[in-house]
Amino acid sequence: MQGLTEVLFRRVYEECFTGALPLAVSPFIALTRNLRFSTDNAQIRDVLPENNRGSIPVIPQILGKEPDEFVLLANHLYALGYSEVNWNMGCPMRAVTAKHRGCGLMAHPDEVRAILDTVVPRLEGRLSVKVRLGLKDKEEIFAMVPVLNDYPLASVTVHPRLGRQQYTGVPDLDTFGQVLPLIKHPVIYNGDLCTPDDIRRIRQRFPQVADLMVGRGILYRPTLPLEVDGSPTDRESVKHFIRRLLEAIRTTLPREEAVVRKTKEYWSLLWRALPISEMQARQVLRAQELTIVDNLIDSFIQ
Ligand SMILES: Cc1cc2nc3c(=O)[nH]c(=O)nc-3n(C[C@H](O)[C@H](O)[C@H](O)COP(=O)(O)O)c2cc1C
Repeated sequence: MQGLTEVLFRRVYEECFTGALPLAVSPFIALTRNLRFSTDNAQIRDVLPENNRGSIPVIPQILGKEPDEFVLLANHLYALGYSEVNWNMGCPMRAVTAKHRGCGLMAHPDEVRAILDTVVPRLEGRLSVKVRLGLKDKEEIFAMVPVLNDYPLASVTVHPRLGRQQYTGVPDLDTFGQVLPLIKHPVIYNGDLCTPDDIRRIRQRFPQVADLMVGRGILYRPTLPLEVDGSPTDRESVKHFIRRLLEAIRTTLPREEAVVRKTKEYWSLLWRALPISEMQARQVLRAQELTIVDNLIDSFIQ
């Protein structure tokens, strides 16, 4: 997740909950006209192997639709040691979809076919994709699946919302159930997996699903993967994780203003892992100064 599950998070998570998450998909790397692979590019820096030591193993993700740039970036990522890259066809941000990128591609199966025709034969590693049901209409996925079935994809992750819903409403599990048997690749389910029960329910209802991908749930409840495997809820480990994450933000970011912004970005989801009210959580989001933010959070994770 852009701005959230970047390497800073992935390293601290792995340090605190070693082995709990077998894999993470990186926040997307956007294709740009003169794509540079230099360390100036923060999105590339995020997946450089030397920055990812001690992190959750990662699959880099690409956002964009320019075939030549796609091949260049993907092959660069394989050369760095990654065996798979993921193509983002799910991002719902308007600035993205308006350019037929991310979820904007869902309404254009012919365009996707043309891109895959050009890209797939030139890739030196595996490709997986992440999709939504559509941008505006769930019929879009039914037109897209036959296209995706024609290429050797490692997996298809389906987030059963429409792009226009952004992150609101609930995943459309009935439509997901109709689409699932039509996809010939391994299917990964993603959407609103926030509690061990959510995970059990999806596994039970859709046993054919190859794997599950947790999004915001990993911040709402960092111990979620451990709890699914039977560990009891352990609030002390969550508090320790939050402490370590805040330390990492402080040592990584140069300016106080940036530290406050980043801390709040995480806090806006992470507070749910603590036994505090939304009103208490909001005090942190309203605070402007780092010392106030720190003192408030400290009082919640004592
Ligand atoms: C702030 C934010 C940033 C996100 N960035 C990405 C991204 O870079 N790539 C991606 O595939 N999905 C991204 N997502 C979508 C999530 O991966 C996931 O598909 C979505 O949140 C639904 O799953 P959830 O209900 O488990 O959160 C992002 C979501 C949020 C809230």
